[in-house]
Amino acid sequence: MATLYDGKMATIYDAMYQTFVDYDEEYKFYNQLIHEYKCKTVLEIGSGTGNLAKRFQENHQDYIGLDYSTSMIAIAKERTKNCRFILGDMRDFNLEKKVDSIIITGRSTSYLTSNEDVNETFNSLHNNITDDGIIIFDFIDANRFIPYANENQLIIHKAEHEGTDYLRESTWETTLLENFMLDWTAKYYIIQNQEKELIATDFSTVRVFTLNEMQLFLYMNGFQIIKTIDRKTYAYDTYVIVAKKRT
Ligand SMILES: C[S@@+](CC[C@H](N)C(=O)[O-])C[C@H]1O[C@@H](n2cnc3c(N)ncnc32)[C@H](O)[C@@H]1O
Repeated sequence: MATLYDGKMATIYDAMYQTFVDYDEEYKFYNQLIHEYKCKTVLEIGSGTGNLAKRFQENHQDYIGLDYSTSMIAIAKERTKNCRFILGDMRDFNLEKKVDSIIITGRSTSYLTSNEDVNETFNSLHNNITDDGIIIFDFIDANRFIPYANENQLIIHKAEHEGTDYLRESTWETTLLENFMLDWTAKYYIIQNQEKELIATDFSTVRVFTLNEMQLFLYMNGFQIIKTIDRKTYAYDTYVIVAKKRT
């Protein structure tokens, strides 16, 4: 597992992603889809530090967040009031009551590195949505990401949060591991007086997917795709899929 979501790193993540991601726009995007399919209840998987949770809560929606990092959930709870978060793993969870929409946000699918992880996740989603329910999730498009990472040895992202300037330097090992997995090393710096000071290094293995393989994973787990959206999100090209149970 990436250390990015634990302890001190969770706080750094939270600060930097406030710049990387436009959470108002992110909320609008998911909420529009949820409304389009007339869903009343939503489970967000990979709810992280609660940026979407806050917005769902402000709009009085029936929302539950799920994440497997205690540090991320702790920050999410501080950000929201009486919002419900479940400490759990998307590969194996059981809600007390089925929901009519499940969203997996912020490319959290990148951490499903084995085929078993993906199958278990879709199986859990299938078990936890109502018969007419929908799932919505995004993933990094392997076809665009791999050449990009190959051609850009050092990828730099800058962020500013509450008066502090941050810098992240990413290097990707593009000698592909099994399943289009890549090793990602990220160094996080604070910039002070034009000098960069290293505050943390994170190493993780993540997976990017092709649209075709995702279509097949869904089919094999009893889903049919109802919408595919090509979406440029922060830094990397992604696809967003909306799917429902196959009838
Ligand atoms: C890139 S962050 C995205 C967080 C949030 N959606 C956002 O956009 O800021 C990925 C999140 O997925 C969570 N995560 C990764 N694998 C998970 C799993 N198997 N089950 C539940 N949560 C997981 C991590 O703890 C982390 O909070």
